[in-house]
Amino acid sequence: MRVAVVGSGYVGLVASACLAELGHEVVCVDNDQEKIAALVNGEVPIHEEFLPELLARHRGHRLRFSGSLPEAMRDSRIVFIAVGTPPAENGEADLSYVEAVARDVGRQLRDYTVIVEKSTVPVYTCEWVRRVISLNAGAPVEFDVASNPEFLREGTAVTDFLYPDRIVIGADNERSALALRELYEPLTSGDYYRQPTAIPRPAGSPSTAAPLVATSSKSAELIKHASNAFLALKISFINAVANVCEAVGADVEQVTTGIGLDSRIGPRFLRPGIGYGGSCFPKDVMAFRAVARDYGYDFRLLEEVMRINDDQRQRFLRKVRNTLWTLKSKRLAVLGLAFKGGTDDIRESPAVAIVRALLKEGCEVAAYDPAAMERARAEFDGCAVHFCSDPYHAAHEADALLILTDWEEFAALDLERIAHALKYPVVLDGRNLYRPEAMAQHGLTYVSVGRGTVAGAAGRGALSRTAGSVKE
Ligand code: UDX
Repeated sequence: MRVAVVGSGYVGLVASACLAELGHEVVCVDNDQEKIAALVNGEVPIHEEFLPELLARHRGHRLRFSGSLPEAMRDSRIVFIAVGTPPAENGEADLSYVEAVARDVGRQLRDYTVIVEKSTVPVYTCEWVRRVISLNAGAPVEFDVASNPEFLREGTAVTDFLYPDRIVIGADNERSALALRELYEPLTSGDYYRQPTAIPRPAGSPSTAAPLVATSSKSAELIKHASNAFLALKISFINAVANVCEAVGADVEQVTTGIGLDSRIGPRFLRPGIGYGGSCFPKDVMAFRAVARDYGYDFRLLEEVMRINDDQRQRFLRKVRNTLWTLKSKRLAVLGLAFKGGTDDIRESPAVAIVRALLKEGCEVAAYDPAAMERARAEFDGCAVHFCSDPYHAAHEADALLILTDWEEFAALDLERIAHALKYPVVLDGRNLYRPEAMAQHGLTYVSVGRGTVAGAAGRGALSRTAGSVKE
């Protein structure tokens, strides 16, 4: 099937590459000519597993890049809108890019086309897109607007697309639903998975064909917002539980094991830490709250989800202060700047927010991140941040080590080397990557989330686990 994808950001680029992988003829279009030129030249603008392979496999054959919407739309049966929906001042999603694309699509429409909303948008966006296209279409022409939200996580976006938990098709009539069913048929029939060249199935994904959920366009729009809000809620919930654990001297890791084994709850998204970040959760929870309010429902639960999330960073900063006393002129080693492990993305990163707060208090930061250093260099241009070549270099002569991102390599540090490199053997772990006892054995004082602090060299010989490491 010939498909146009408008927008070459995270969602647009991954969707384009994966749709080409499924056998479709895809034109990915963007009005940023520099971006298009880079993509045509073989550059891969984002750090995403399997994306370079897919682009190399299909670029110039089934996958083309273009700066021209009319060219991209010619003969396309489906046009995806995958442009950004950043937050506006009032927390609502800014839909001006979506509207601009809808206008242009309306002007270019010739034959029956299904226009599919793929960006995360509030309920009723399909209706607006429909209206804008009708108003701008030169001559009467048949078209449908449908919603097909994506659930891609950064770092695993390609396998999330090709091995999805579910495909949601929000279409308000059979004709448009059929076009989308046909598009995803290689995944829903399982044919793609039988191909020898298929991208390998990720561990833990069920070896069945992808289930398809057919809904109205409004329900599909809500499924996307409600899914992200629920996952954010799960994270804030466990962070709140971690805070209670600290107060009473329980261990949140033991508590999550006990909760997560209940199949009605499940173990995923129950990792406590310094809160969620990234380009989706903060924006989507805020937008969902705003859209509910617009339609007369005061979704206060979401307010609390956001409050707990913000507070989690503040609590971590209080732990740093409580452990190190004054912060001015202290040298702190920071491991991790990305909003989570496996990506170079620092948008809304709790790690970046914490580093900013520490700089404000006069600290000097020695930072290391396996992928996000380039972006972080631009973010902290002119600030007291030194970028280091590895964790040990960062730890050298530092007053303490802070772990802020859950990169796998940070969970496998040579603790002996870390203990020797640090000026004072203190580790504050915002991601609970270690067992407190293991840290104490290496003489490290270890402060984490939802567990007691263990004293290392400072209180050597007297391994103490204290409850309530945070003073309110
Ligand atoms: C998310 C959704 O998972 C995805 O379905 C949607 O399409 C886009 O938003 P992403 O932003 O890539 O994906 O990251 P995700 O892996 O969901 O993590 C989001 C944030 O929550 C990160 O900052 C992560 O560190 C944090 N997190 C996640 C926790 O703090 N604890 C957890 O248990 C899980």
